[in-house]
Amino acid sequence: MARLISGTATAERLMAGLATDVADFSRAHGMAPTLAAVLVGDDPASRIYVRRKIEQCRKVGLGSIEHRHGADCSEAELLALIDRLNRDPKVHGILVQLPLPPQIDSAKVLDAIDPMKDVDGFHPVNVGRLSTGTGGLIPCTPMGCMMLLQSELPELRGKSAVVIGKSNIVGKPVALLLLEQGCTVTVCNRHTVNLPDLCRQADIIVAAAGRAGLVRGDWVKPGAVIIDVGINRIVGPDGKGGIVGDVTAEEIGHAAAFTPVPGGVGPMTIACLLLNTLQAARALRA
Ligand code: GUN
Repeated sequence: MARLISGTATAERLMAGLATDVADFSRAHGMAPTLAAVLVGDDPASRIYVRRKIEQCRKVGLGSIEHRHGADCSEAELLALIDRLNRDPKVHGILVQLPLPPQIDSAKVLDAIDPMKDVDGFHPVNVGRLSTGTGGLIPCTPMGCMMLLQSELPELRGKSAVVIGKSNIVGKPVALLLLEQGCTVTVCNRHTVNLPDLCRQADIIVAAAGRAGLVRGDWVKPGAVIIDVGINRIVGPDGKGGIVGDVTAEEIGHAAAFTPVPGGVGPMTIACLLLNTLQAARALRA
């Protein structure tokens, strides 16, 4: 049977260590590392995500400030808020929850965040640092994927990895992190020819396509490690809703190990956001 790589357990361990490090920082600097979370509009999923991020900040002793704006918020208003947060010495991390309403240019907003406070790792400076392997803040979901993968496979040099999905948030950064560790990386997209065959060659599959059950058992080489980043809402034949990944989990018993959905990459994303907030605070104070 394939081993289950528990993101829930790994994230809990990470958070326990973080709580100690956050307490040390707070004692040394007389203030807690603090995250400003910006929520614009009333997208229900975004509200839930921001609420969870704030709750988890509290758990490890990080400060948090939530800034809420209505769906009619202008780009100028949002840019003015970012400018204030950039200059506020009590704020160490800034997160603007995406998506933003259509009247706001997301790229312009992300570009306006001080790269030192960009705890999502979406600013072009941090994207550039990641692509050149020169530090910077690393996007949270890709960082969580790498931690889970390396808990199972500490030595990645020479491994062949297939990444399904080329998004800026997951596919591209995870591919860069794998490259940096010495993997031979194939990044696939919706136009890729013969995706199943490419997967069959892979020691590692990172599935981030956003399509329920896309990766089937016969796409998986025996002994491969599977990181499933998909979060897909489905309604079963019984009419009940649920969340499934991009991998057909019941068909991959011959893999070495896999991350479940839920309970895999998901919990790691928030833990890595908290880690980035502490790291940003340390760098700003250094
Ligand atoms: N919306 C979906 N994923 C993310 C994320 O990782 N960060 C932010 N800020 N918004 C998101």
